[in-house]
Amino acid sequence: MKIVEQIKLPIKEEMESFESKFKAAMISKVPLLNRISHFIIRRKGKQMRPMFVFLVAKMVSQGKVNERSYRGASCIELIHTATLVHDDVVDDSNQRRGFFSINALWKNKIAVLVGDFLLSKGVLLSIDNEDFDILKHISVAVREMSEGELLQIEKARKLDITEEVYFEIIRQKTASLIGACCAIGATSVDADADEIEKMREFGSIIGTAFQMKDDLFDYSEAKIGKPTGIDIKEQKMTLPLIHVLNTCTSSERKWLINSIKNKNRDKKRVKEVIAFVKKNGGIEYTITRMKEHQQRAMDILNSYPSSPYKNSLEMMVNYVIDRKI
Ligand code: IPE
Ligand code: IPE
Ligand code: MG
Ligand code: MG
Repeated sequence: MKIVEQIKLPIKEEMESFESKFKAAMISKVPLLNRISHFIIRRKGKQMRPMFVFLVAKMVSQGKVNERSYRGASCIELIHTATLVHDDVVDDSNQRRGFFSINALWKNKIAVLVGDFLLSKGVLLSIDNEDFDILKHISVAVREMSEGELLQIEKARKLDITEEVYFEIIRQKTASLIGACCAIGATSVDADADEIEKMREFGSIIGTAFQMKDDLFDYSEAKIGKPTGIDIKEQKMTLPLIHVLNTCTSSERKWLINSIKNKNRDKKRVKEVIAFVKKNGGIEYTITRMKEHQQRAMDILNSYPSSPYKNSLEMMVNYVIDRKI
C-alpha cells in the first residue's frame, strides 16, 4: 500500500465525506466560475491540510471529529487553493498539479478574481456557522501568508536576504497555514488552549520543513507537476543559495549576485548557478536543517500516547521530508 493510503487509513471516512463537502462549498451561480471550480476539483492536490485537521482532531480527542472539523478542513483547503491560484499569478507560473495553471488557461484577470472568490467562500463557511474561533485561526494565517509573500518580494528586489529572514518568510507564507490546520483540528474538538497552541507549534514546525522540501524540489529536475528552476528566475533566494552565498569567496559571491540580478532570464546562467549551489553543499545543508525540523515535530508527537492517529501523524512528518511530489 502506498504511504499516503496508509496515512489516510484512520481518517478514510472523513476524507471521503470531506471531498463531497469541499465540492459543495465551491458552488456558484456564475457558469464561468463553476467551470473553473470543476477544473480545480478534477486536478486536486495532495490534500495534506485537511489530513492534518482530521488527524490532529482525532489524536487529541481519542477518535472524535464533528461538523466543525469538516468545516475547518473545507475552509482551509479553499483558502489554500485560493493562495495557489494567486501565487501562480505572482510567480508567473504556467503549471500546477501536473497541468496548466488557472492563469495559464484563463489569464491573470480571471485568476485574481477566482482566488478572491475561493477565499471569501472559505471565510463565509466559518461565518455562516458561527465558527468564530476557527475563523480567527484562519484569518491570522491569511494575514501572515500575504505578509510572507510580500516580504519575499521585497527581498527578491533587494537581494539581501539572510537565513533568519528566509525562515521568517517560510514561517509566514507556508508554516502559518499548516499551523492553523493543526490548531483548528484541536479547536474543533474543544481541546484546551495549551493543547491548541502545542498543535499549532507542531504544524508550524512541520510546515517549515514542508516549504524547505518545496524549495529543494526547485533545485531538482524531478517531475513534481509544476515547473522547477523558477525560483532563481523570479530572484527568489532560498536556503540552498543563501547558505552558499554565506560560505563562498567574495568573487564567487559577486558572480552569484550578478547572475541573479542581471542574468536571471538567461537559462544557461541559471543552470550554472544551480550547479554551483549543488557543488558547494547548498542541498546537503538544507536537508540537515530540514531534518532538525522533522525531529522537533516528532518530539512534540512523542508527548502523546500511541494511537492510530499519532502513528499516521508520524508518517505524515516523514512523508513531508521524503515525498516525491
Ligand atoms: C504547495 O502546496 C504550496 C506550498 C506551500 C509549497 P502543496 O504541495 O500542498 O499543494 P497541493 O495542494 O498538493 O497541490
Ligand atoms: C509557496 O511558495 C506558496 C504559497 C504559500 C501560496 P512557492 O511559490 O514556492 O509555492 P509553489 O512552488 O509555487 O507551489
Ligand atoms: Mg509559486
Ligand atoms: Mg516552490
